[in-house]
Amino acid sequence: MKTTLSPQALLIVKSSATLITQNDTKISTRMYEILFSKYPKVKKLFENAPANQYMKLAEILSAYAANIDRIERLKPALLVIAKAHVRLNIQPAQYPMIGMVLMQAIEETLGEKATPEFMDAWREAYKYISYILIEMERELYEQRKQKL
Ligand code: HEM
Repeated sequence: MKTTLSPQALLIVKSSATLITQNDTKISTRMYEILFSKYPKVKKLFENAPANQYMKLAEILSAYAANIDRIERLKPALLVIAKAHVRLNIQPAQYPMIGMVLMQAIEETLGEKATPEFMDAWREAYKYISYILIEMERELYEQRKQKL
């Protein structure tokens, strides 16, 4: 599990912030399309999700790119996400699946702008944000267990 981010990945992701913001809803819409066609069973998990779920994903993608060098600012937003995940019992083992479809959506949407270096940096950044969310979720599951 990736606990830090290389300076190179940080730089590439940070400088992609404008490009990501310009394309964030396209990327997130495409991500759900790919997710539900490749993994139809996952659709059930999202059956009570608000219609603007794809906007929420778009928002965090853009915010992440812009704030990757000052991640503390994102912690409140990430905690909201972690709580939503814990309500639905999301598990660490599901993260690679989302990572794969998200990377495919980024690559397809950005076309030739998604160079191999760019994709490597984003793959690394995905592992990093996953690590943060998984840790938050682990603590929330722990707290839930203690309340039982
Ligand atoms: C880095 C990875 C991920 C990011 C950035 C992310 C982002 C988000 C965001 C922004 C929300 C909306 C939270 C809110 O209610 O405000 C959300 C909810 C959700 N996510 Fe994730 N997510 C990630 C990984 C996963 C994984 C691995 C799964 C497993 C299938 C998943 C399934 C869901 C589901 C089912 C919801 C709740 C929908 C509802 O409101 O009913 N997510 N996620």
